[in-house]
Amino acid sequence: MPSRTGGPGPAPRAHPIPLCVPNIGGNERPYIEECLNTGWVSSVGPFVERFERDFAAACGVPYAVATTSGTAALHTALLLAGVQPGDEVILPSLTFIAPANAVRYVGAWPTFIDVDQDYWQLDPGELRAFLRDDCRVSRGELHNRHTGRRVVAVLPVDILGHPCDLPAIQKITEQYGLAMVEDATESLGALCRGKPLGQWSRLTCFSFNANKVMTTGGGGMLVTDDPQLAQRARYLTTQAKDDPLEFVHHEIGYNYRLTSVQAALGCAQLERLPAFVATKRRIATRYAEALEELPGIQPMKEAPWATASYWMYTILVDAERCGTDSRSLRKALAASNIETRPLWQPLHLSPAHRESFARSCPVASRVNRLALSIPCSTSLTEEEQRRVIRALQQEVAGDRPNVEIQPATGA
Ligand SMILES: Cc1ncc(COP(=O)(O)O)c(C=O)c1O
Repeated sequence: MPSRTGGPGPAPRAHPIPLCVPNIGGNERPYIEECLNTGWVSSVGPFVERFERDFAAACGVPYAVATTSGTAALHTALLLAGVQPGDEVILPSLTFIAPANAVRYVGAWPTFIDVDQDYWQLDPGELRAFLRDDCRVSRGELHNRHTGRRVVAVLPVDILGHPCDLPAIQKITEQYGLAMVEDATESLGALCRGKPLGQWSRLTCFSFNANKVMTTGGGGMLVTDDPQLAQRARYLTTQAKDDPLEFVHHEIGYNYRLTSVQAALGCAQLERLPAFVATKRRIATRYAEALEELPGIQPMKEAPWATASYWMYTILVDAERCGTDSRSLRKALAASNIETRPLWQPLHLSPAHRESFARSCPVASRVNRLALSIPCSTSLTEEEQRRVIRALQQEVAGDRPNVEIQPATGA
């Protein structure tokens, strides 16, 4: 557009590339219309049952119970695991805050331990060290020797679309008689040793909020192989109705059931999950190929036990070698209309959880300082991805004459 003074005016800004947005384009509309046409819009109706059935089948587990959010699924799972007020539940420091909050909802305390260097997941070595060095057994129960509280469960969080080393964690929980409640909210579609998430813990939680691999707008799912736990999950998430006609309740329940309209969205999204995961993996491969030569940039790694779904593609930016740090890089990319985002404040430093016990977590702190999540929507085009890669190459190589800028191939 010409400027008022008649000059050429500023160059038009390139179109925005968002970080990670929903991909709606399959049967979402007809399924939701079916809800509207039939009047099944509340939390009863065929789509809720179908979504639960199809989701359980996709995870290869017998039972799935839909909830209003991943946080609601976690809260319910902790109740089902028998976590009591005053107990402690072990979590990684590097995660979104929701699982730690869910631990507080049941009156228990999160205990934070560090993540591993390579994949940024709860470190089984740290877990073992905490149980060995910071806990003692008294009267047949495990107690944190610093707080005196009973340690009852481990809550591994599979962050960013990558599974934790679940077999190793499982072995430790069995050895110490701890419950395992898994937060797989960020990693639907990932495999651990070839098996889908949902098959590794007695209780596993998923989320369908807007930026997840698949979405229902907001929603969650709790999966289990135990029929009694599934039945109890249904009971607790529907206000613990013992006599639905006379409204008799023997326990405090929750209004945590997903609505039919959201479940209809979920059914349509679930049909596309394999394609979403394949696209995420293609995006990850292109990033890894283009960025691994870039000095100071560490692309995401995939563990030998993992087939990641790469929900949120994240790089580490080593300021000394890049000549820019993750926060400056975020601003520079924003100026090019490319959305990126740092990871969460580690929870051992979170003011909200300052009263919780934490071991030293240097890896979580380092990853937080260096990490930047970059655009990885399933609708990201190859041209858009080339733009992101070019922008990264320019910002990172910057004015450094000894660094050659390779054109991205986009293959
Ligand atoms: C690790 C983790 N746990 C739990 C949640 C909570 O899920 P929701 O937003 O559906 O409550 C999220 C994301 O939102 C998450 O990233």
